[in-house]
Amino acid sequence: MLADKDRIFTNLYGFQPFGLDAARKRGDWDDTKALMARGQDAVIEDIKASGLRGRGGAGFPTGLKWSFMPKEPVKDRNGNPRPNFLVINADESEPGSCKDREIIRHDPHKLIEGALIAGFAMRARAAYIYIRGEYIFEAKVLQQAIDEAYAAGLIGKNASKSGYDFDVFMHRGAGAYICGEETAMLESLEGKKGQPRLKPPFPAGAGLYGCPTTVNNVESIAVVPTILRRGPAWFAGFGREKNQGTKLFQISGHVEKPCVVEEEMGIPFRDLIEKHCGGIRGGWDNLLAVIPGGSSVPLVPAHEIIDAPMDFDGLSALKSGLGTAAVIVMDKSTDIVRAISRLSYFYKHESCGQCTPCREGTGWMWRVMERLRTGDAEISEIDMLLQVTKQVEGHTICALGDAAAWPIQGLIRHFRPEIERRIEAHSGAMMEAAE
Ligand code: NAI
Ligand code: SF4
Repeated sequence: MLADKDRIFTNLYGFQPFGLDAARKRGDWDDTKALMARGQDAVIEDIKASGLRGRGGAGFPTGLKWSFMPKEPVKDRNGNPRPNFLVINADESEPGSCKDREIIRHDPHKLIEGALIAGFAMRARAAYIYIRGEYIFEAKVLQQAIDEAYAAGLIGKNASKSGYDFDVFMHRGAGAYICGEETAMLESLEGKKGQPRLKPPFPAGAGLYGCPTTVNNVESIAVVPTILRRGPAWFAGFGREKNQGTKLFQISGHVEKPCVVEEEMGIPFRDLIEKHCGGIRGGWDNLLAVIPGGSSVPLVPAHEIIDAPMDFDGLSALKSGLGTAAVIVMDKSTDIVRAISRLSYFYKHESCGQCTPCREGTGWMWRVMERLRTGDAEISEIDMLLQVTKQVEGHTICALGDAAAWPIQGLIRHFRPEIERRIEAHSGAMMEAAE
């Protein structure tokens, strides 16, 4: 388990001010110029060696992603060089996820310093931080921190006296979940309707305004300065191969003390809950199921999750995923069919409507889920619903279709008898009423 001395986010709970003076005392902006003087490729190699994988949910290796950015300027059709851009995804909207909010509220300088170093490494001229529209307070804090960093010469012309010019802009979203999808975010930044683009091309090939772009999550960028200062081997020393480092877990639901906490990757679920959340409400025997990575990943029943390592491979072995490490704990008081039906409604509501399997499928799946919830359905519809989820999964432009399908698949996989019980109880009640 992680010792206090190994925590990256030392002001996660806001016990100290977020501003520049306090941030400097915590070690932020400490000779940033020296970190940059090691060179762009050295920074990328260090991030690769640290084993850092994207913290926004998909877990793509961060250093590898940066290495896709062109080292020489790409020319437009008139022969003019196109700039490279860094876009930071702060559109945190996954149900259960609330870690980027804490970073921005209490440690925004870690993010801004990370943006400079990451942007420098990928030869970007500017970073755009796209922040969720509902994060009104956080947007104020972030803008204040950006202004402080400009005033102190840490970003802007000759940023941190490195000889490198780098701007940071904040852009506020307007409340659409789909704008957290990286290409929808680029569309939105360009002033268009936020609808995902087909990939490939990936953003490194054609991103913001058609320029080479990397989109990274807030946490992925905010950990960069500490990784470089303490060394990639230090970060890679936590967790296990391909699942390295420390991670912010966000634990909500039926635990004694819900919280956001930084822990070592791979911490067993039981230890995470005992150490930081005071246990399960009503004791461990009262645990029903857990959604371990935000609403887009399938639930895992109690007996499977209790000793599971909380990392990418540990949870994918249970046919679920680490996602954003938004751990939603549900005890036996939960109406599990209703809970998943509510998530189905969320995805139906947030579908951008661009592709048919998602636009039609999400509404269809939600309506069947509602009938399964009340039991007003045929047993055969369970398999039919499962078939429909498979028609949606993998057949859409972006991952929202998969995200709508997977929670239902998890429910049917683990709680089919409960769904059948409801249908039988409902038809029994109907027959009684008819007699
Ligand atoms: P993805 O796997 O398609 O891509 C992940 C990243 O790797 C992207 O930046 C992509 O451009 C890059 N990438 C993948 N293959 C590549 C290749 N061959 N060449 C170059 N770059 C490549 O996943 P996606 O759609 O970006 O994210 C889905 C995840 O997002 C879900 O697993 C979910 O957990 C998470 N999510 C997080 C939310 C939040 O609030 N943080 C909200 C909704 C979903
Ligand atoms: Fe839009 Fe859904 Fe298609 Fe994604 S999968 S592009 S949200 S319709």
